[in-house]
Amino acid sequence: MNILLTGGAGFIGSHLVHRLLSRSEHHIVTLDALRYSGNLANLGDLDGHGRHAFVRGDICDQPLVEALIREHRIEGIINCAAETHVDRSLLDPASFVRTNVVGTGVLLEAGRRAGVRRFLQVSTDEVYGSVETGMSNEGDLLAPRSPYSASKAGGDVLALSYWATYRFPVVVTRGTNTYGPNQYPEKFIPLFVTNAIDDQLLPLYGDGRQCRDWLAVEDHCAGIEQVLLHGEAGTVYNVGGGNERENLTVAEQILACLGKSKDLLRFVTDRPGHDRRCAVDCSRLRGLGWSPQIPFEEGLRATLRWYQEHESWWRRIKSGEFRQYYEEQYRRRLEEGTACGS
Ligand code: DAU
Repeated sequence: MNILLTGGAGFIGSHLVHRLLSRSEHHIVTLDALRYSGNLANLGDLDGHGRHAFVRGDICDQPLVEALIREHRIEGIINCAAETHVDRSLLDPASFVRTNVVGTGVLLEAGRRAGVRRFLQVSTDEVYGSVETGMSNEGDLLAPRSPYSASKAGGDVLALSYWATYRFPVVVTRGTNTYGPNQYPEKFIPLFVTNAIDDQLLPLYGDGRQCRDWLAVEDHCAGIEQVLLHGEAGTVYNVGGGNERENLTVAEQILACLGKSKDLLRFVTDRPGHDRRCAVDCSRLRGLGWSPQIPFEEGLRATLRWYQEHESWWRRIKSGEFRQYYEEQYRRRLEEGTACGS
């Protein structure tokens, strides 16, 4: 397939580009706006690759999207382009609506008009909202609780409407908390790992007892690939790691693996609208022959090693725009936070 993969310089997108190029004969055009978390270093090893082209641009740019689909005879679109960080969505919701809803709409319409034969929308389990007990199924009501997850839900239902209305062959994946190498250090695991390496405080929101299901990026990309190739049009597929952990437990594991003291932990003011627990039932995707392969403790150790061995990758990020964001998000909270056990 000739594939247009949007957001391919980001975390999940760049892993997916590498996976698809190495495992098949696909030709891939990566479209990425290279905003704060898009990073060409994530694709650096693909310079000169005969089946890959990189284009810098915005998914909201309709003429550009149409031209790329035409010129590269695109047959499939995978939309990984998104504003993804919940905390940032509380500061600037409009940019989330623009990219996650309007941008998805531009891709859908351009793809439909050009007769593209596959459209995969990479979404999130956060569209289900906070799940106190049990697991979210694909048919559950959507109850997003942040501008981030609400904008992703908007993109999802828009995509699904293109199947209902036009029979445009859309599939949607809803992944859980993904971790691994190359993840921008605003997210929980890379933030805590890089802070701990530098003996900086680790800001745990609220009581730290919120639960997430951790999914290795390799397993997530394998799930996306399976849905791309074998998913039924008009269908949603949950992708989860089956590794439910409380945040406090993960933070303690990170500190233990790095040989650092629990004194680095700080309980800070909670995130407004914080989902207490997320968990998904992946039976539908398992039915396509996929299952997660990487046990959390193994994946976490490998991820820690990657951050230890790639300091220049994350130090460059943490010394740039990120500093201002971090200051705004955490300085006051950390000053007022409480230590573990106090
Ligand atoms: O479930 C999939 C979603 O997981 C993705 O769609 C999102 O793009 C991704 O950001 C993630 O959402 P979360 O809000 O769960 O991820 P985050 O890494 O921000 O936080 C994970 C948990 O850790 C959450 O309960 C909030 C908590 N946390 C996070 C940060 C950044 C802290 O306690 N302290 C922090 O500084």
